[in-house]
Amino acid sequence: MQHPVTPADPQLPIAEALQLAVSKKADLVGFERDQKRLVAHRDDLSKMNAMGLSSLPLECIAVPESSPLLHGERTRLNQSEDYSRRLTAYFPVYFVAALYELQSLMQRFSVKAFVIGGITRDLLLFKEKRLTVKDVDMTVEGDALAFAAFLTENSRNFTVEEQFPEFGTAKVRYKDSLMFDFASTRQEIYPHCGALPVVVNRGVPLVNDIIRRDFTVNALAFSIHELGHVLDYANGFQDIQTRHLRVLHPVSFFEDPSRILRAMKFCARFDFELGEETALLLENFLEYGGQCYKGGGERIKQELKGFLAAAESQCKSQWIRFFIEKECYRLLNMETAYRPGAETIERLSGVCAILPEIESALSNYVDKDFLFDVYLCFLCADMPEDEFQKTTQRLGLTRHEREFAEHFRRLKPHVVERFGTLHDFSSAAEIYDLFHGIPFVTLGACLVELGFSNPKHMRTVLEAFLKYKRKWEKLRLELDGNDLINLGIPKGKQIGKLLDQLLHAKLAGQVPDRLDEIQYVQNQLGFEAETQSAESSPTGEQPPC
Ligand code: CTP
Repeated sequence: MQHPVTPADPQLPIAEALQLAVSKKADLVGFERDQKRLVAHRDDLSKMNAMGLSSLPLECIAVPESSPLLHGERTRLNQSEDYSRRLTAYFPVYFVAALYELQSLMQRFSVKAFVIGGITRDLLLFKEKRLTVKDVDMTVEGDALAFAAFLTENSRNFTVEEQFPEFGTAKVRYKDSLMFDFASTRQEIYPHCGALPVVVNRGVPLVNDIIRRDFTVNALAFSIHELGHVLDYANGFQDIQTRHLRVLHPVSFFEDPSRILRAMKFCARFDFELGEETALLLENFLEYGGQCYKGGGERIKQELKGFLAAAESQCKSQWIRFFIEKECYRLLNMETAYRPGAETIERLSGVCAILPEIESALSNYVDKDFLFDVYLCFLCADMPEDEFQKTTQRLGLTRHEREFAEHFRRLKPHVVERFGTLHDFSSAAEIYDLFHGIPFVTLGACLVELGFSNPKHMRTVLEAFLKYKRKWEKLRLELDGNDLINLGIPKGKQIGKLLDQLLHAKLAGQVPDRLDEIQYVQNQLGFEAETQSAESSPTGEQPPC
């Protein structure tokens, strides 16, 4: 369907563009660029205006005239697929049992409910059985809290664990196996750019809940009342098939800039591309968002973590490069003047080529945040100090995360240089001294750094580190400082020195048990007494017995 477009300058402030649209009774205001017409819809201009973004230029939210984001195609049921016969082929039995029970309870309560978000997306994307399902996002066309209470009253298998009346949501446990997050379908507004959304309407038709979401592939609704039917209002099926990530409306990134990092997370995880208009809107936000958005905060950190912790792959490294080249790191602090140098860009995008080997070798020791922590080290490595401090504050890094990043900034050259001293015949004591006291993440990041210049030596160090972890990290002496004092060693620095010597002797297998340790200390005492008396003798000769 053709829409008349009112021509305007791309730099026309949104407030004026809106006035123009109203005065001309036009839906679309736009301009020509590179032989293409880019336009903004009056409703979207109005949304931007309501968020206080009236002085930003029209081009911020302009998309190609043909874009489905403009023509209400996001609010029409495109397709519905029936997976009812294949439920057990895709989901674990306990989940399917829970769905059937929900369906029968729902019929008695007469509401409609849908599984929405990640599970439905992954079902269509992978078409293979999910072995585990734990947390399930449910949207209820009606009162989610009342439905949660009804479930608990009418089935022993469902228990309300937590309720949040101010948000109209409830966490409901199913037996011991599943946690359902029930939320009412809702319409939301964002008071300003990056704010938490405010619910303006609850229990709205599903389609209105769909449009507020982030991407088409996350807006597929798996019906419970018609169990197994997946409803697609936003062309999510097609985007999954063609592996495209698309926002649902042009204002999406201005409402919630953390979606830019979500976009990268999903593209890196699923090897997706950004849809044409989504890429344009993303760049526009990065160009103009600094005028209305400071960056940082809990959601940005969470999504950055999700992105950087995505499994390592060739494709992830492309998205890391995109993240740097398009300056998406500014989402951490939109006021920053810092731009990473060419070397940092090379390093950050090269991490992917080295880290998987390290992660897999260390798989018994790494936790789920390891990848994020290592990338964070590289991201912060060359920041000027004040920039680093601001970034850590803006992101609300934990003390540990700050420490890893700080250690790497400070210790990288020193640690990597010391790695260079390791060789095939290094003793246990040398290996111990090399690794002891280096925080695990700093070590991981330093291994990556070494891998850039000398992958072969990186492997030697990695092997030595694994040996250290297996055999020596937890090695403890039988004796402690007090034992040494009781054995006659004077208090003071000497105690620490002797404990070190003793530990080295233990690493060399010379003092396997407590008696050997005591013997070692006594030998040292005798040796020192001899040395002292030799030193105190004026001739330097042994005193007569
Ligand atoms: N959502 C959104 N905007 C955000 C975050 C979430 O619209 N900034 C919506 C999306 O529809 C998303 C759903 O909330 O699918 C649930 O979000 P979340 O649990 O963060 O992610 P999932 O999509 O379930 O993905 P994952 O596999 O990473 O859990």
